[in-house]
Amino acid sequence: MLVLGIESSCDETGVALYDLEHGLIGNQLHTQMAMHAEYGGVVPELASRDHIRRLVPLTESCLAEAGKTYADIDAVAFTQGPGLGGALLAGSSYANALAFSLDKPVIPVHHLEGHLLSPLLADEKPEFPFVALLVSGGHTQFMAVRGIGDYTLLGESVDDAAGEAFDKTAKLLGLPYPGGAKLSELAKLGSPDAFSFPRPMLHSHDLQMSFSGLKTAVLTAVEKVRAENNGSIPEPTRNDICRAFQDAVVDVLTAKAQKALSDTGFRTLVVAGGVGANWKLRETLGRLKILPPAVKGRPKPQPEAVRVFFPPMAYCTDNGAMIAFAGTMRLKHAQTAGSFNVKPRWPLTDIVDKPNI
Ligand code: KG4
Ligand code: ZN
Repeated sequence: MLVLGIESSCDETGVALYDLEHGLIGNQLHTQMAMHAEYGGVVPELASRDHIRRLVPLTESCLAEAGKTYADIDAVAFTQGPGLGGALLAGSSYANALAFSLDKPVIPVHHLEGHLLSPLLADEKPEFPFVALLVSGGHTQFMAVRGIGDYTLLGESVDDAAGEAFDKTAKLLGLPYPGGAKLSELAKLGSPDAFSFPRPMLHSHDLQMSFSGLKTAVLTAVEKVRAENNGSIPEPTRNDICRAFQDAVVDVLTAKAQKALSDTGFRTLVVAGGVGANWKLRETLGRLKILPPAVKGRPKPQPEAVRVFFPPMAYCTDNGAMIAFAGTMRLKHAQTAGSFNVKPRWPLTDIVDKPNI
């Protein structure tokens, strides 16, 4: 069974082919980053138009890469939401038209389910159940995942997503869009003690998070630095701010991950989404241990190891491979009618039908 996956929810056009027997056999991606950079953020209308331009050539390159033809495709999966309405419509119309012309089913996929399942594309795969940390430009959520389609929201950011905070902070520091990855590179050069930013909601006793206050704390620090330096930010100071900001975000995500694992009793953590590419987050979560609660009269509990899975770097940010894969997993429950619509806002917990696999 061969599924073509189409991703077009934001500023990346992704087209991939997933074969149930042989795995991922084609994966093509075009990023619009350079196009949006001069505007300092994604321009939705430009994004939609570019998706339209790229979808056909990317599909042809993907088929050529896999040594397949249109006739070999058994189903077409596409990102139905959440995302930018126009960008989603470009992918949806293309996927539906292609599936209709081939007389094959079309499978609407939730973008976050794509991210969530992307670690299963790695050679070493996590086993259910696990806690998933979805950490992207639009979402920061903890999910209890008991199987495909069985997702319970444990907690999420009440304001900015972690990736959004990375990007906004990068902008404050004068870094070019999209600044998240660049900020994290500069953080490597920063000193750990020069600045200290708050860890919002660290002790909130739940799995809610907040990152907008952190961004404001950075703004205050940046204004002070500028005032002391004739309006500029000296490079070493900028690197120190990057370091302190990243440390604060990673500390919060790590503490909440620990709580999510303790609360559920699961010992597997899966990290997905663009911020999952962050080196510091990978390093810190990679060393995570859980200390079970002490019971009176029993020996002191030993820290328990946690298995932590990250998607391969190439599948951290948006891509077609995760959509082709999630589509394949969903195929048995594919809605072949009425799926042309898109869902720019769509909570992952609203996926009701569970594929029977
Ligand atoms: O999952 P994704 O590609 O798109 C969404 O669905 O949002 O995630 C993009 C986000 C952006 O906010 C970007 O700044 C962030 O992931 N990101 C990073 C890194 N690489 C990408 N954030 C921190 N460190 C990185 N290395
Ligand atoms: Zn994404």
